[in-house]
Amino acid sequence: MADTTVMEKIVSLCKRRGFIFRGSDIYGGLNGTWDYGPLGTELLRNIKNAWWHDNVTTRQDIVGLDCAILMHRTVWQASGHEQNFTDPLVDCKTCKERFRADQLSESQCPRKPSKHPGEHHECALTEARRFNLMFKTFVGPVEDNATMVYLRPETAQGIFVNFRNVVDSSRVKIPFGIAQVGKSFRNEITPKQFIFRSREFEQMEIEFFCHPSTSQEWYARWRDARFQWYRDLGIRSERLRLREHTKEELSHYSCGTSDVEYLFPWGWGELEGIAHRGDFDLTQHQKFSGKDLSYFDEETRERYIPHVIEPSAGATRSLLAFLCEAYAEDQAPNEQGQMEMRTVLRFHPRLAPIKAAVLPLVKKDGMPERAMAIYKDLQKHWNVFYDEKGAVGRRYRRQDEAGTPFCITVDGQTAQDQTVTIRERDSMRQVRVSTDKVLSYLMERLAQHAG
Ligand code: GAP
Repeated sequence: MADTTVMEKIVSLCKRRGFIFRGSDIYGGLNGTWDYGPLGTELLRNIKNAWWHDNVTTRQDIVGLDCAILMHRTVWQASGHEQNFTDPLVDCKTCKERFRADQLSESQCPRKPSKHPGEHHECALTEARRFNLMFKTFVGPVEDNATMVYLRPETAQGIFVNFRNVVDSSRVKIPFGIAQVGKSFRNEITPKQFIFRSREFEQMEIEFFCHPSTSQEWYARWRDARFQWYRDLGIRSERLRLREHTKEELSHYSCGTSDVEYLFPWGWGELEGIAHRGDFDLTQHQKFSGKDLSYFDEETRERYIPHVIEPSAGATRSLLAFLCEAYAEDQAPNEQGQMEMRTVLRFHPRLAPIKAAVLPLVKKDGMPERAMAIYKDLQKHWNVFYDEKGAVGRRYRRQDEAGTPFCITVDGQTAQDQTVTIRERDSMRQVRVSTDKVLSYLMERLAQHAG
């Protein structure tokens, strides 16, 4: 199967089954924006919850934060974004399309000749000019320079400007981190590859503050821990790699960055950057705000500006990686026992949008009532699904496509011996389990993957 075909199939499955729709779809779409449907919302929520659980809830040294998206303009002057957060933009003089100059392999318009009836390789491009990626808006009714603000292009700066507040209001002691999950906005010149590069997306970021003498050690620890996180959630090792940035690639603030990259159907793409930001951000905000952002260590009596290690992940981008990783086609028997192609999303159970579906075999003989009772019981613990419409084989296929790890079927035997079948998504193996043991069976099976 060609890789473009895989991507087309994933995009079409996402729309058909309600994972992801085009933003403003009924008005023809708004380029670079995406809406998450019922299954996509659960999947995204599970990714963010897994991240929060593993990085905040189960650690003693990280606290959470939730900052405003609109921030004071000086924040972005201090951080360097107003000056430096730009991409080189070129226009094609013939078709008027815009491109990022650094993404063109040749200095020619990359559009196909069909769009350019003439000889497209002769199309001239304009000189590259710097284009700032931050979205602007205005605070209050007057639209002028004094009221202009930016939508945040990263959640990180909200953490830095609250460093003093967090230190003064909680019992954190260096080394410690502040974590935030939320929307970020970038006016990307060429949003592309489905949700991979969007104009509105979600990030999951940690700023980890440490003593300068331990910063290299923390950098290495975070790099390895973050790589392992994706492995633990089911990304195969041959599709995941860590790549150290060269000197030329480093951002203006960074003295060391590694990217966790995933092998998407079109090639390697960044999921997360782990950056050693030194004391750049706190020093800048101290300078621009005039507020003291140093840290005083009570034990050593030392005062210093902490160094920062930043693991910065894309929630929506990793969702695409988890989708690509889960997508599979195999053979399964149909209603007549003949083998046919099935599409299945082999999500890690922690991420699966629906953990179990409860299905009465037929809509009579008390089966719906029994199935509904099981459904109500399981619903107290997980997002589960009840479905009584159509042939059971077809209902299994629908759940396979949604990535549901277990299907519980109430059949004729249930009334006699109080057992149901539990079908496992990947192996399609079925076991009979007593009705009163369904909850503990699922608890055990899902907990095996709790990580
Ligand atoms: N605070 C550092 C920072 O924001 P970044 O490498 O620009 O670093 C971090 O972004 C992560 O955010 C990326 O690794 C990616 O997963 C996600 N991301 C960045 N731009 C994105 C976009 N336009 N669409 C979707 N995700 C994006």
